[in-house]
Amino acid sequence: MAERSRASSAHISPSAHYTGYVWYRHQLADPAFVTRFGRWAHGLLRPITWGARVGFGLDLDSLLLQRHLLIDARLTQAIEHEGVEQVVEIACGLSPRGRRFTARYPQLRYLEADLPQMAARKRLLLQGQGWLNGQHQVKNVDILAAQGTGSLASLFADLDPTRPVLVITEGLVNYFELAVIEGFWSRLAAQLQRFPQATYLTELYPDLQEHPRYRQLRWGVELVGRLTRGHYPLHYRDAETIAAGFARCGFAHTEVLDPGQQAAALGLPVLRQASLVRVIEARV
Ligand SMILES: C[S@@+](CC[C@H](N)C(=O)[O-])C[C@H]1O[C@@H](n2cnc3c(N)ncnc32)[C@H](O)[C@@H]1O
Repeated sequence: MAERSRASSAHISPSAHYTGYVWYRHQLADPAFVTRFGRWAHGLLRPITWGARVGFGLDLDSLLLQRHLLIDARLTQAIEHEGVEQVVEIACGLSPRGRRFTARYPQLRYLEADLPQMAARKRLLLQGQGWLNGQHQVKNVDILAAQGTGSLASLFADLDPTRPVLVITEGLVNYFELAVIEGFWSRLAAQLQRFPQATYLTELYPDLQEHPRYRQLRWGVELVGRLTRGHYPLHYRDAETIAAGFARCGFAHTEVLDPGQQAAALGLPVLRQASLVRVIEARV
């Protein structure tokens, strides 16, 4: 099962080089996180992202920053005010968040996890800079593996079940059909039940058909699908269907956050309309 699912989602991994370069461009990452492929891909797509910004008002970097900074803000809140001491970032790719947060909060246990090849690359990167230690580690995981090596159960076995935990996925869920990602969320909720307090943060691109930029969004997701040789399905229509979906998977409380409403607090340009992305904060 794990072998088959690895083969079916490995095509997503190159996109992590692109976003890694975006985080670097916006002073969120050290130069060590930049890969040759990420820089090249960003340069190659620049005319398209420029055209989308000028022609359609769709700014890819700002959409990415909205999700990244809002997840950072919620994580900060959880660490500083809700006693979170253990963080698991699944599908970490080349994100610098683990480095930034462990530098700021040295007491934090921070597990980064990804498919084996990407995890090996990230481990090498962090190790090379002397940034890994007993508290901050990189593990293998395949969100599609129901059991065995690479499953959520083996990843969570490394945590202290008597302490609060917070799990993050970013740039992952819309690469999968809803039934597949709901399967992952159900397995995740089952793991989180073991902790006294557990929070899951993710971003999600809903199917906001009434949004003034909906046509441009469809164009954008079509492009992402083609570039990553897969699909990029939009999930749920609104906050109510999102909360209902998460409830079906075992999350009792779900908040749906619009980064557009917090743009100023996140240090981003204020938007004239709701964002196209949502950050979900779900608790079991
Ligand atoms: C768009 S990148 C996002 C990386 C990072 N979170 C960020 O926002 O920069 C998607 C990530 O999902 C990972 N991924 C794809 N399929 C996966 C799976 N089945 N299990 C775990 N991670 C997976 C890829 O390897 C890649 O690192």
